[in-house]
Amino acid sequence: DVVKVPQGATVAELADLLDIPASDIVKRLFLLGTPLTMTQSMSDELIELVADDLGREVKVMTKEEENSFTFYDDPADLLPRAPVVTVMGHVDHGKTSTLDAIRHTGVAEGEAGGITQHIGASQVKINGRTITFVDTPGHETFTAMRARGAKVTDIVVLVVAADDGVMPQTIESINHAKAAGVPIVVAVNKIDRDDANPDRVRQELTEYGVIPEEWGGENMFVNISAKKNMGIDELLETILLQADVLELKANPNTFASGYVLEAKLDRGRGSVATLLVNRGTLHVGDALVAGMSYGRVRAMLGQNGQPVTEAGPSDPVEILGLSSVPAAGDEFRVFQDERDARDLAESRSLKARIEEQNKVKHVTLENLFDTM
Ligand code: GTP
Ligand code: MG
Repeated sequence: DVVKVPQGATVAELADLLDIPASDIVKRLFLLGTPLTMTQSMSDELIELVADDLGREVKVMTKEEENSFTFYDDPADLLPRAPVVTVMGHVDHGKTSTLDAIRHTGVAEGEAGGITQHIGASQVKINGRTITFVDTPGHETFTAMRARGAKVTDIVVLVVAADDGVMPQTIESINHAKAAGVPIVVAVNKIDRDDANPDRVRQELTEYGVIPEEWGGENMFVNISAKKNMGIDELLETILLQADVLELKANPNTFASGYVLEAKLDRGRGSVATLLVNRGTLHVGDALVAGMSYGRVRAMLGQNGQPVTEAGPSDPVEILGLSSVPAAGDEFRVFQDERDARDLAESRSLKARIEEQNKVKHVTLENLFDTM
């Protein structure tokens, strides 16, 4: 049996997982020439070495692996789901304007409600299909979320201004998307300008491996003007084409899980979190854990602040009812029993506290001056 051990586990934690006295491990470590105390954390190699020495098999789990619950779905239960899109690009190239233009299009199609946007994500409808846009990810958020193992984007829309061309953050965005294995749809923006040169943008991007389909590459390009509302429908249709290639599916008929997009403490309403569901359906009253926080969904609000009773795969939703404020990128998961949610949240907090203490303990009188 392979025992899963979280990266950075302490001697005591490893003993617990292997179900042996911690003193056995301390002894072995001493014999291996690396004396450690019970509360000190061990390197991956050391964990493997000790386990091997004990004739046990372990798998050291990275944060990312640990964070991603593995669920099994019968392929017959999988249904198509909406693509989740993040807009990225260089400063001032028109990310916000593009999102605004898109939202107007979606609203023009007859969606109920105003255009006041309430939460950090929104959905638009085109040709009877839905696209979810995650607003925030500035590059830092995107990277931070990925570091936590959160996969919140299916497609990156890279906005590049046709007058300015490829700039440092254009390249950064490409690198992020590639590292995450997310396909890039390029929106060449500001084509209304006299000095716009959309072909130069295409040419420049080839240097970074972003190559238009019509030139034999894999990337779909659309010329747009967010300001003049040109090419927006085509951009949305292109996103749907890219989504078709990905064959995005999820099982809606199960307990919900997904990621926290953002969360805050609100005077009066308490902990308010925007969640993105990626599997199952979330309901008012569900018991859930989100990072180190837990609770029951007391109320759910849609993108315009309207109350909703359920949220399925690829739906963003704001919820009230968590015990504390989770972090962006935390995974959330619904449990049948509220106690299980609380237990998981509490064991995670405990682990975080131990990690924190370990950090403090590493500063001793001997090494105090080295670290200063
Ligand atoms: P940051 O959030 O600061 O990184 O900028 P952004 O990428 O969100 O760009 P934003 O949408 O704020 O647009 C920047 C400027 O470009 C604004 O002055 C817009 O009016 C202008 N702009 C955006 N789209 C177009 C367009 O299609 N044509 C023209 N001519 N100007 C545009
Ligand atoms: Mg902006």
